[in-house]
Amino acid sequence: MRVLAVGGGAREHAIVRALARSGAEVFVCMKNSNPGIARLAKEVALVDETDVQKVVDFARAKSVELAIVGPEAPLEAGLVDGLEAAEIPTAGPTKGAARIETSKSFMRNLMKKHGVRGSVKFAKADTVRDVLTALDSFGTDLVVKPVGLTGGKGVKVFGEHLMTRQDIITYADEIISKRIGGASIVIEEKLVGEEFTVQAFCDGKRVVPMPAVQDHKRAYEGDQGPNTGGMGSYSQEDGLLPFLSRHDYDEAVSIMTDTVRALEKEEADYRGPLYGQFMLTKDGPKVIEFNARFGDPEAMNVLSLLESDFGAICEGIAAGDLSKKEVRFASKASVCKYVVPQGYGSTPLSGEEIRVDEEAIEAAGAILYYANVNEKDGRVFTTTSRSVGVVGLAGNIEEAERIAEDGVQHVTGKVFVRHDIGRKDFLDRKVARMNEIRGLSA
Ligand code: AMP
Ligand code: GLY
Repeated sequence: MRVLAVGGGAREHAIVRALARSGAEVFVCMKNSNPGIARLAKEVALVDETDVQKVVDFARAKSVELAIVGPEAPLEAGLVDGLEAAEIPTAGPTKGAARIETSKSFMRNLMKKHGVRGSVKFAKADTVRDVLTALDSFGTDLVVKPVGLTGGKGVKVFGEHLMTRQDIITYADEIISKRIGGASIVIEEKLVGEEFTVQAFCDGKRVVPMPAVQDHKRAYEGDQGPNTGGMGSYSQEDGLLPFLSRHDYDEAVSIMTDTVRALEKEEADYRGPLYGQFMLTKDGPKVIEFNARFGDPEAMNVLSLLESDFGAICEGIAAGDLSKKEVRFASKASVCKYVVPQGYGSTPLSGEEIRVDEEAIEAAGAILYYANVNEKDGRVFTTTSRSVGVVGLAGNIEEAERIAEDGVQHVTGKVFVRHDIGRKDFLDRKVARMNEIRGLSA
């Protein structure tokens, strides 16, 4: 089968690797020159991924039979609509269905209208006056979000990034005047707990869930420092997390299923991978956001564990029928650590050469995924985004962590890694904190 994959990060390297394992011939459109993807692909085009016409022309010229889109920006630009108009079945949501990610007010209003559990108190604000009204009814315990896409970096939380009532008003004014993420704001009640991710394959009706994963958004160890796209992630051998029970997981899946049904009722059938970001609170899982795609790094966890035929699953998604597709994951834990340029999170050092000893990483038993780097004449250079993801798989999180840690030692240059991700003492602290929030003794 000839398949188009769009995007040039580690998430897309994991997608292309999974497709290649299905025996697909993969054609890729990406904006950077990712050496891991280039090696697996039949052919690569370096293009702007949001240029719908260019990507559709490439797909047509290569006679692809199926497409999958990694990042959110092309979804918002209508790439899936363009591919489907060209009669290329696509395992990704249309622009209308992708509003579940691209408009935070659409997402909250959809959940409210259809009575989906797990939402939070929210208000949309278009002016500073609206923000002042929201402050009157919420108090200051809130979160300020630009309504549209900001690459995960536009959300500010009271008590963390915003310390006073005036900080809230100043940030709201900045979003509106600089048109950050679309010039409108969503104000939400602030949730307290542990965050986790559930991803699922969706065919418009059915929601087939994957193992739960926990990402780490903060740049520095101990969950300190600025928010990033995600520094690394882990999953547990039973598909749950150390602080997440089967009951909580099932509730998250049920919220995702009800959300997909709500989209169907709005005639925006959701076909594609769906990403649910939840806060486990004292009252159970609450939705922080939905993404209309795999998570990055979370895709590296689940696609490394997937034992079934990924190409066949994508065909089922695109055709709107997953009922006959096998979806099975290895009963193993996974730990993913991202190697990122020095300064990532604030002022990343781009254009720096890094050395990636692929053989040593393989010998350590780890899986290597190249992220947003550029290869030139066999040398690898950083960009302003994350550089390399390294994944360990094993019978439990501790062993998987050791493998990932062994692996990242073989990536050198002006880079850094969060070594605490997946470490036992760090996980124990999360469990204790969650028990405290739920009023349980440790
Ligand atoms: P988002 O871009 O919506 O994923 O938000 C980025 C980060 O902001 C999340 O990973 C959370 O850590 C935090 N956040 C977002 N919404 C809330 C909320 N309602 N309560 C507490 N924290 C939140
Ligand atoms: N890991 C967060 C995201 O993909 O948006």
